[in-house]
Amino acid sequence: MKYILKTILLLTFSISFSQSKSIDLRVEELLKKMTLEEKIGQLNQYTDDWNITGPLIVNPNKETDVKAGMLGSMLNVNGVERTRKYQELAMQSRLKIPLLFGFDVIHGYKTTFPIPLAEAASWDLSAMELSARIAATEAAASGIHWTFAPMVDIARDPRWGRVMEGAGEDTYLGTKIAYARVKGFQGKLGNLNSVMACAKHFAAYGAAVGGREYNSVDLSDRMLWEVYLPPFKAAVDAGAATFMNAFNDINGIPSTGNKYIQRDILKGKWNYKGFVVSDWGSIGEMYTHGYSKDGIEAAFSAITAGSDMDMESNTYRNTLAQLVNKKRISVALIDDAVKRILRKKFELGLFEDPFRFCNSERQKMALNNSEHTKAAREVAAKCVVLLKNEKNILPLSKETKTIAVIGPMVKPKRINHGFWAVNLKDVDSTYIVSQWEGLENKVGKNTKLLYAKGCDIEGDNKAGFQEAIDVANQSDVVLLSIGERYNMSGEAKSRSNIHLPGIQEELIKELQKTGKPIVVLINAGRPLVFNWTADNMPTIVYTWWLGSEAGNAIADVLFGDYNPSAKLPMTFPRAEGQIPIYYNHFNTGRPSINEEKLYKSSYIDLPNTPKFPFGFGLSYTTFNYSNLKLSKTKMKSNEKIEVSLDVTNTGKYEGEEIVQLYLQDKFASLIRPIKELKDFQKIKLAVGETKTITFVIDNEKLSFYNEKLEFKSEAGDFDLMIGASSEDIRLKSSFELLP
Ligand code: NOJ
Repeated sequence: MKYILKTILLLTFSISFSQSKSIDLRVEELLKKMTLEEKIGQLNQYTDDWNITGPLIVNPNKETDVKAGMLGSMLNVNGVERTRKYQELAMQSRLKIPLLFGFDVIHGYKTTFPIPLAEAASWDLSAMELSARIAATEAAASGIHWTFAPMVDIARDPRWGRVMEGAGEDTYLGTKIAYARVKGFQGKLGNLNSVMACAKHFAAYGAAVGGREYNSVDLSDRMLWEVYLPPFKAAVDAGAATFMNAFNDINGIPSTGNKYIQRDILKGKWNYKGFVVSDWGSIGEMYTHGYSKDGIEAAFSAITAGSDMDMESNTYRNTLAQLVNKKRISVALIDDAVKRILRKKFELGLFEDPFRFCNSERQKMALNNSEHTKAAREVAAKCVVLLKNEKNILPLSKETKTIAVIGPMVKPKRINHGFWAVNLKDVDSTYIVSQWEGLENKVGKNTKLLYAKGCDIEGDNKAGFQEAIDVANQSDVVLLSIGERYNMSGEAKSRSNIHLPGIQEELIKELQKTGKPIVVLINAGRPLVFNWTADNMPTIVYTWWLGSEAGNAIADVLFGDYNPSAKLPMTFPRAEGQIPIYYNHFNTGRPSINEEKLYKSSYIDLPNTPKFPFGFGLSYTTFNYSNLKLSKTKMKSNEKIEVSLDVTNTGKYEGEEIVQLYLQDKFASLIRPIKELKDFQKIKLAVGETKTITFVIDNEKLSFYNEKLEFKSEAGDFDLMIGASSEDIRLKSSFELLP
């Protein structure tokens, strides 16, 4: 048996080795035939005009450029017809090098899944891999080769609109999610249901000062390596075909022209073989940053730093040849970038058949697939976070006679998609299940649903309040769906005020006077501030933006057909003044334990603690943690400790729990956070069931980047905490790492 396995492994290895060797040879052969102009053409990417995701450079010569072989890739072209049209033009070029079609397939294609931050709340890596897989299947069937996802930026500032696109604040969780998403999108590159992934935005875009979009980043090397880079390294390990650099500068050097980040770390230390695309116009923007005095200098910085493809700035197109002619850069540098891009075109099988992703039949089948819809509903339910359920109003009984469904989010459809919804430009949104429809689908004939909008998301018009109050008065329970509009978070959607917008909280206050039980549903792309609601409403459900099956998934959760299991992937602040706020902070020399204020690290007008902590989320059932055991309490760096504990479902419903393991290195040459997530498990337990789960502590979990940026552990004492959230620590122990 062992022998057979070994032979199979060897065979697989030699097959893929010889394949990759032949691709290398084919790339070299093609390169020899290319003129300098054609090579530079491969480094050039234009957007199509119908769907624009950045400031467009109007270019009436797009089609001529494709025919002349002056383009390597296009973005924002989708659908079999459109991609075929451009690919046919590329086939008229001298060398017939196929185009790559890239698109922002961020959380689904036609079937829209929850926004990535919501998916992160599920902590369910297989669910995230599946949603990426389905998105890839649909996109690939529509002629797309490449998604600009996953975004793996760690984000500790909810004012930044793009928190909705990532996995939240935690590096460990973010790293696991980055890996799963890359695997999901890519499957096996070259298969007809795979697209190239793109780990973005390299690097540290999430650390933009003040949470303001496109802003500068000023951070230490330690912080860069410890907090922001690990998810990118995970993307490399998962085989991400491409990387995208970022709009921000890091310590004064724009990421796009940042040699340290791209050439030294990514392509050097990590030996990355894929290619790097710039962000939209970011090569040209190095002029505006005040870094490059003209296009020539911008191109010089970008190409030497390791940016291979120019997205929509035309800088490479206009200047690279001059740089070669003036001998400021070698042709070898350009060749390296071209080879990286050609290699991917070969791996995708585009030289065998440039139209292999253009098949109308396949497109039709993939975009109307009931399996995908079913998966979208299941994944969406896993993302709903139950923040409060004090009076056990939830789950609702299916016998409830009259339910008032109130709020500006109840009836609209488009709103459930969240930001970055691909197909809505020209596909109608009738297939999206609104929250109203989801409830209608769920309740039986004996339940009456009453609707009132109440108010708009923004503005101060209270004209609808009375109708909402009347409807509430006629009901047994009120469902109130409020929050921020889908395009209040996303790219260029930073907000200085992240309170619930408009007069929505006033509407809640009015409805409270009816004395009816109220369930508040909050729809948002980021953590919002809603202190009055949090303190006064007994039941709060955070739904984020759940995608095309939002209505059904929300109804599944409200009526207990799915028992909520999600936990927050970001800290929810009490006020904007606490931002940046994250659980894995340092202790300081004067920590404010129990909110002491005098000469303590505190605010005089606010507690330090968040409103809802990282890792928090309730279930309709309850879990008890017990019996923590460590296989030993002293370990050497080449040893491991096995940690085991029992988790029991002590409530009335079957449910899932996300058990979190945190560590604190008590004393070190560089201060360590008060706790850091180092492992987790999501387990399902029947009523009364107990499961024993185990974690393994190894040297990697104890290591950190020291002053010399070496990733190493240091001997000493460690605290181990097992929690149901970062604050709800249920079991504790400690151990020693021996010298
Ligand atoms: C700019 C965004 O920052 C990036 O994430 C996106 O992929 C590109 N535009 C293309 O739409």
